[in-house]
Amino acid sequence: MYLFPKWVNGSGLAIAIGALALPAYLGGLLWYGASPKAMDVGYKPTQPIEYSHALHAGKLGIDCRYCHTAVESAPHAAIPSAQTCMGCHTNLRGDSPKLEELRKRFNDGMPIEWVRVHDISDFAYFDHSAHVNRGVGCVECHGRVDRMEKVFQAQPLSMAWCLDCHRNPDARLRPPELVTKMDWSADAQQTQWAEKFRKTHNINPKQDCSTCHR
Ligand code: HEC
Ligand code: HEC
Ligand code: HEC
Ligand code: HEC
Ligand code: HEC
Repeated sequence: MYLFPKWVNGSGLAIAIGALALPAYLGGLLWYGASPKAMDVGYKPTQPIEYSHALHAGKLGIDCRYCHTAVESAPHAAIPSAQTCMGCHTNLRGDSPKLEELRKRFNDGMPIEWVRVHDISDFAYFDHSAHVNRGVGCVECHGRVDRMEKVFQAQPLSMAWCLDCHRNPDARLRPPELVTKMDWSADAQQTQWAEKFRKTHNINPKQDCSTCHR
């Protein structure tokens, strides 16, 4: 048992002091979802080139994993390269002015500098594969991306918010093969199903500090 979480070691005095004041902090601010991150809900940066999830993931029904290829196998979901887009757009709508910037970057071998929408602090650890393989759907944390012209942050991504589900995940679990189905909704058997699913798959989200601060 250590007094401070491991990540304090490299993070300097400021955080160490923060950790000392933690019990009061947790009892107050953080627990009620007032951590600084909570203010980022709705954050919707402008991206360097035209791209719509409402069109591609919604109307056209392209699965999230076609582009976010690492979401089931790694901590980060991965953002597709221009190459992935050009797999379709070399021929498809090749002359559209909306695709001009994409074509230019692709032909010049320039990367597309997408602006990050979600970004938790480096001292917190998150892993996509640990969630999507255990039946937590994208929509639980990102909202209806399939309806967004421009992606925005739908949830606080604060510690209180993470723990809220870790304490009691049942109502928010689904069969893992349906994690990208954005309009899925639970039926009357949900409670029984989740109880059984958790038991057979040994799903018990942890709440100790070192789970997310390592
Ligand atoms: C055709 C490719 C493609 C498909 C399909 C796709 N995405 Fe994306 N996604 C992108 C690109 C490109 C970006 C970066 C630009 C942006 O934020 O719009 C992105 C960004 C995101 C982000 C924000 C990332 C950040 O910066 O924090 C989320 C969340 C996301 N996608 C979720 C989804 C979900 C959920 C689905 C399925 C319903 C999906 N995506 C389907 C290409 C795709
Ligand atoms: C339990 C919550 C949760 C679930 C479920 C989830 N995400 Fe995320 N997602 C996050 C968080 C938190 C971040 C920010 C990670 C960071 O800052 O390191 C993120 C970031 C992203 C990003 C930006 C790139 C990255 O990995 O940092 C994309 C793209 C993305 N998510 C897509 C998806 C898709 C697609 C799904 C479903 C297959 C999904 N997410 C499911 C919480 C979640
Ligand atoms: C699996 C095939 C596929 C992939 C991959 C794909 N798209 Fe598309 N995209 C389409 C289709 C289909 C349309 C609709 C064309 C139409 O309306 O006739 C479209 C339309 C568009 C449009 C609107 C064009 C216009 O003139 O209205 C833009 C912009 C666009 N895509 C950008 C992207 C970007 C950027 C990526 C990569 C992140 C991407 N697409 C990946 C299939 C794809
Ligand atoms: C909607 C529910 C939900 C939300 C929201 C959620 N989690 Fe989880 N988390 C889970 C489930 C379910 C598991 C899988 C537990 C298991 O396999 O026993 C998990 C597992 C994890 C793991 C893997 C633990 C290990 O043993 O390796 C980490 C790390 C984690 N979550 C961090 C986070 C962080 C950080 C956030 C907030 C940004 C978050 N989670 C939000 C449900 C959730
Ligand atoms: C399920 C994941 C999870 C667990 C478990 C967890 N944290 Fe956190 N913690 C987070 C996330 C996410 C943040 C916010 C990161 C950000 O601001 O981007 C955070 C933020 C913090 C902060 C910074 C304060 C703030 O306002 O953001 C401190 C200090 C902290 N955690 C300490 C702890 C301690 C001590 C424990 C054990 C009692 C703990 N955490 C358990 C996910 C977790």
